[in-house]
Amino acid sequence: MQVLSSISELRAAIRAAKRENPDAQVGFVPTMGFLHEGHASLLEAARAACDVVVLSIFVNPLQFGPNEDFERYPRDEERDLALAAKAGTDIVFLPQVEEMYPAPTRTIVSVKEVTSRLCGASRPGHFDGVATVVSKLLHIVQPDQAFFGMKDAQQVAVIEQMVLDLNMPVRIVPCPIVREPDGLAKSSRNVYLSPEERAQSVVLSQALQKARLRFEAGADDTTPSEVTLLVETKIRQAPLAVIDYVEVLEFPSLQPVSSFADSNRVIVAVAVKFGNTRLIDNAVISI
Ligand code: PAJ
Repeated sequence: MQVLSSISELRAAIRAAKRENPDAQVGFVPTMGFLHEGHASLLEAARAACDVVVLSIFVNPLQFGPNEDFERYPRDEERDLALAAKAGTDIVFLPQVEEMYPAPTRTIVSVKEVTSRLCGASRPGHFDGVATVVSKLLHIVQPDQAFFGMKDAQQVAVIEQMVLDLNMPVRIVPCPIVREPDGLAKSSRNVYLSPEERAQSVVLSQALQKARLRFEAGADDTTPSEVTLLVETKIRQAPLAVIDYVEVLEFPSLQPVSSFADSNRVIVAVAVKFGNTRLIDNAVISI
């Protein structure tokens, strides 16, 4: 496994791999590090589908708001490299902030509409930061396929829209959410939770499970507001949970649903704060 921190070294390594095998499919997994089984599942999907697997680890300052956790975002390079090697990564790109942003960027990629709700509404500027850095990374790596987790379903919708609108020659591969045994979606931010918060955080996946069951019982005789209420009521059973949003939207447009009879696929998406830690989770349901 090669570990590279400059854009020129990375480009040279990918060129070399393509010289060796001109048909090589390059698979790319962008991350912010502090890797867990969710990230490993993306690397494994890339390993299974591609000849060369590239992982990037870069905590992107552009996607953090002024009062968010950029400075204290968890980092553990040594452990990340061990996990990356175990998952079969060929090349790790680990740039410093100065390598990615030698000067303040004057070009921002801003995806409209799919960013108007959910985390786009509660974290202003976040998806501009995500789309801009992912666009830069896709230009640097030039992969055939890029792998993203449905844990961040809105991010998948944003990246798919960007790739479509800007004719980027890459296939976006969405991958399923990896969870802890009790249902909590794996996240680098779970380490911030106190034992009490960690115990109560199971309400997120339990609430989404309730929504799933409600749809299974018959989508025709329920409404988005009934499902929202069901999910909110379950989350409120956790005394430490402070709801940021609970929304039922059409997927992947992320626009409101008037009646379930008119949509094939919806997303039930939640963001909940436990102390200073904000957790997100979702269920995409075909109806
Ligand atoms: P990060 O939060 O590190 O996540 C990297 C990738 O791992 C994302 O595609 C995310 O959806 C996926 N992922 C995280 N937890 C997961 C889980 N439990 N199951 C499945 N996949 C999971 O998302 C980012 O970084 C950044 O916004 C990035 C795209 C790298 C741009 O900076």
